[in-house]
Amino acid sequence: MTADRTAQDHPSSQSSFPQPRPEVESLHAYSAPLEGRRPMLRLDFNENTIGPSPQVVEALRAIPADQIAIYPEYDGLREAVITNLNLPLQPEQVGLFNGVDAAIHAIFHAYGDRGETLLTTSPTFGYYTPCAQMQGMAIQAIPYEGAAFAFPLEPIRHALNANPRLLLICNPNNPTGTRLAPQQILALAAAAPQTLVVVDELYEAFTGDSVLPLADFSSLPNLLVLRSLAKTAGLAGLRIGFAIGHAAVVDRISRVTGPYDINSFAVTAAFAALKDQAYVDGYVAEVIEARTWMAEQLRVAGVRHHVEGGNYLLVWPQRDPAEVDQELRAAGILVRAMTGKPLIDGSLRVSIGTREQMRRFWDAYQTIEALRT
Ligand SMILES: Cc1ncc(COP(=O)(O)O)c(C=O)c1O
Repeated sequence: MTADRTAQDHPSSQSSFPQPRPEVESLHAYSAPLEGRRPMLRLDFNENTIGPSPQVVEALRAIPADQIAIYPEYDGLREAVITNLNLPLQPEQVGLFNGVDAAIHAIFHAYGDRGETLLTTSPTFGYYTPCAQMQGMAIQAIPYEGAAFAFPLEPIRHALNANPRLLLICNPNNPTGTRLAPQQILALAAAAPQTLVVVDELYEAFTGDSVLPLADFSSLPNLLVLRSLAKTAGLAGLRIGFAIGHAAVVDRISRVTGPYDINSFAVTAAFAALKDQAYVDGYVAEVIEARTWMAEQLRVAGVRHHVEGGNYLLVWPQRDPAEVDQELRAAGILVRAMTGKPLIDGSLRVSIGTREQMRRFWDAYQTIEALRT
């Protein structure tokens, strides 16, 4: 298998180190500017901007030394997820992963073979593409439609006739916020039994559009739902996420992960976070209120923007977006430039935090864009 992977297969690469698979050699890994963020107002990664519940912090502080010395134990965590969701699921239907990123990686590893197709939308979350590419898959990315970035339902329906291996729908979509009704997703899955339909519900808390309460995985075994504690519960740094679906599918995806991929700190934090749903609900409500306030400021000031689902919105500066990005950074505020992204090139994605944090952003933005009269 490896004997034919010589430098001849990779004429542009150096032969002084062992050559990886050709798909890896040509891969542009997903990279994110992560350094030096902590002292800033971080509106660049759609994280929780105030941190987790105090109960999470307390539980982490109370971790005894022997818990650190032994491999992590996951007993009861799947049940805790089910209790939190308040749905009639079995523990085998919940897969535990080192963040939803790791779940996405595992899905591609388990289901995506060379030459098969990933069907998705564009622009969407940036990690789906490298995962498809590392498997040698083809990517069919269908653009959102019109000025409001509507979900391209008919083209997706049509593309499903070719039986792609995977359909990935981010709902609401990052970064356009586009919402798709859960019933439409269920209909797509029902119409494409050969396709694994993955619904990335990372930002579902900000819309309430989940397929989970409606999904019957015994009649739709090709549906898989991703949930995380990163964006709402404030556990992004600990890395924990869930894949929920038919037990056989969850099992196959879990087979391609290591036995201890989720560390015991994340497990402890997840138990505490899942128990304190009131904290998460309070934070989500605050963000939604701040999102409404922010959209109103932008509307009144005549700033081109787009806001729908999710804890983020898009703004189009009048000046060079790279300069505005830099000047916001100089003012201690991080946002994410959407440079080069189809349909939204020239915009900045601004995560929504608390009302006070958005006031700070808006103050700086108005100064930088000279919006004050
Ligand atoms: C749509 C979407 N899916 C998945 C992820 C990754 O989530 P996690 O932090 O749980 O790995 C992100 C993070 O930005 C995201 O925006």
